Amino acid sequence: MSDLTTTYLGMRLKNPIVVSSSPLTEDIKNIKRMEDAGAAAVVLHSLFEEQIELQNLGISPNQAGELPDGLKRIADLDIFNQEAGSYLSLIYRAKEMVDIPIIGSLNGYYSGSWANYGRLIENAGADALELNVYYLETKPQITGIEIEQMHLDLARKVRSSVSIPVAIKLSPYFSAMAHMAGQLDQTGINGLVIFNRFYQPDFDLKRFKVKSTLALSSSSELRLRLRWAAILSNFVQADLAITGGVHTVEDIVKCMLAGAKVAMITSALYKNGIAHISQLLAGLRQWLRQNEFGSVKQLQGKMSLRNIPDPSALERANYMRALKSLDFEEDS
Ligand SMILES: Cc1cc2nc3c(=O)[nH]c(=O)nc-3n(C[C@H](O)[C@H](O)[C@H](O)COP(=O)(O)O)c2cc1C
Repeated sequence: MSDLTTTYLGMRLKNPIVVSSSPLTEDIKNIKRMEDAGAAAVVLHSLFEEQIELQNLGISPNQAGELPDGLKRIADLDIFNQEAGSYLSLIYRAKEMVDIPIIGSLNGYYSGSWANYGRLIENAGADALELNVYYLETKPQITGIEIEQMHLDLARKVRSSVSIPVAIKLSPYFSAMAHMAGQLDQTGINGLVIFNRFYQPDFDLKRFKVKSTLALSSSSELRLRLRWAAILSNFVQADLAITGGVHTVEDIVKCMLAGAKVAMITSALYKNGIAHISQLLAGLRQWLRQNEFGSVKQLQGKMSLRNIPDPSALERANYMRALKSLDFEEDS
């Protein structure tokens, strides 16, 4: 029997499939079904900075009873809002109901509240915390250096405010990704989750309005992540998680080969249902057996930049080869 175990953020996981953050993990019943299907851990849907900042402060009385003692005291102080209250309550209930690790998620751009909410999420019982910096700077006077510094300050601040492991979910759009990842690594952050998918607005040509679209991913989006996991896994201490484009058994195998500790899934569950997790696990076992690998750990990093015979295949040199590789046949 193949050994599927991995470690992520200092946690020993029974396999590398982690459900990433989305409204699917907002429902306690779904979380239970994810555990039953074999998910190794679940990232809860995010508590959004906008919710923290804009909602009225206070927690509804019917939720306060569900909170552990440490949080009831805070709830009594009226310092956090209803959304945050129900979020903390979800963490607490999820921890009561399932045995797999529950990772809380904070999603925002810039706020002094991250550290406070990180502590509350820790107190509610989360095993780890994921920070999703969903930040799109449009002001021309703000520089890349400032954005990078903002990420580093945030990582340092939250890392030093909680004792649970902290991962940061990154955008793929840093101009010097390797440097940024290295700097983040030095903050002591425990995990890098690569990469955020930014939802791109479209134009409605009938109404001349901007329409928001939320398209699910496909496996082709994995390639960007594979390249960077293969590069970053050579030098960062933080664990790497891949999110974006993980749909099949082969996708999970590729994530491991690139050096990721876990492969995260969301779109695949929207498309195929939660039971898809058990199919992926059965397929992963079969793949390992057929390809004579005894464990997932044997795969991890096998195709990282250091371990492949031709590193230029992941770098620019491959660009020229790729451009010349396409056949073109014009119909006569
Ligand atoms: C409907 C939907 C809602 C999402 N909500 C969140 C969220 O609240 N916080 C977050 O960090 N990521 C969120 N994500 C992003 C996913 O966690 C994941 O990173 C992304 O979808 C890429 O993975 P996938 O290709 O497996 O879907 C959401 C994705 C979808 C499809």
